[in-house]
Amino acid sequence: MNMESIIEQLRTNRTASREELVFLLENCGDTEREALRKAAQETALAHFGNKIYIRGLIEISSVCKNDCFYCGLRRSNGNAVRYRLTKEQILSSCEKGYALGFRTFVLQGGEDGCYTDEAVCDIVRSIKERFPDCAVTLSLGERGEESFRRLRGAGADRYLLRHETADEAHYARLHPANMSGAERQRQLFALKRLGFQTGAGFMVGSPYQTTENLADDLLFLKRLEPQMCGIGPFIPHKDTDFRDMPQGSLTMTLTLLAIIRLMHPRILLPATTALGTIHPKGREMGILYGANVVMPNLSPKEHRKDYALYDNKICTGDEAAECIRCLSARMRSIGYQIVTDRGDYRE
Ligand code: SAM
Ligand code: SF4
Ligand code: FES
Repeated sequence: MNMESIIEQLRTNRTASREELVFLLENCGDTEREALRKAAQETALAHFGNKIYIRGLIEISSVCKNDCFYCGLRRSNGNAVRYRLTKEQILSSCEKGYALGFRTFVLQGGEDGCYTDEAVCDIVRSIKERFPDCAVTLSLGERGEESFRRLRGAGADRYLLRHETADEAHYARLHPANMSGAERQRQLFALKRLGFQTGAGFMVGSPYQTTENLADDLLFLKRLEPQMCGIGPFIPHKDTDFRDMPQGSLTMTLTLLAIIRLMHPRILLPATTALGTIHPKGREMGILYGANVVMPNLSPKEHRKDYALYDNKICTGDEAAECIRCLSARMRSIGYQIVTDRGDYRE
């Protein structure tokens, strides 16, 4: 097997075999990584120019009925501060975001029974009424096909639900027995069928993850063909059993961003907050490795620190306006420009 030919195949055929992906991930040195980076950046530039889409992230609830082992919001974390945003607080965050140039709002939260279908549909309809030129993305976990259908009917455009890992045994080491990778994947295919622009994704360096797992994650993405993909490093949280596990690696995250860009040239690919948390220039590097989206935080400042998925999360003390100014400057510093645009997926 030869690294150059695998990279060339990713560029031209947009895929590779499991063995080739494992080989590439295990043997990628600085030279190969730079070749991947360059190819991924060129691909992103060809489709999006130097434009970076922004998404206003509104963290609507820190209450969750699930107990994912890696997450600071897990039900059994008694130290987590729980809050919920009201519809008015959400709309006022959108209002602020709209004035700052956001045309996509992402409502994300734990799996919180208080946000019934009726409540979320009402919020989605109100946002669409007040801001008809904006897209609404939801990221509220596994709600099931019926719920997804109602949310889509109310006007939600996109849904983010990371598959977390495509390997069932690995999934079982990250989640309690009442959750399954197969169910997660079924729900992702349902979202696509219902016409949502759908986002899957995974953490890089999650506990017990192997290179084979990562190759399978890439091949799962190939089967699903999502319109968006969220990947970022795993970062431990002090109140979880994974507190002493090592965080995901910066270079592995960047390598995977580049591979995903080559395998899915038009995919909407964020340089995540987690990437910005493990390295001060993480998000800039993410863009140079093929990412084309950033997701600044629009949540009310008083609740920021309580949406603590992992330790040392950045931007918890900053206003939305400060974050967008900061990110615009960061993007300009590498020759890119944040745009006022819904930033939909285009075939
Ligand atoms: N509850 C919804 C769900 O799980 O899809 C949405 C919110 S959840 C906090 C969003 C994502 O955060 C998860 O898909 C997971 O990949 C990521 N996440 C959770 N804990 C993390 C950690 N310790 N490090 C990095 N990412 C983490
Ligand atoms: Fe809940 Fe999502 Fe955290 Fe799992 S990852 S505990 S579903 S907020
Ligand atoms: Fe939030 Fe820099 S992006 S302060």
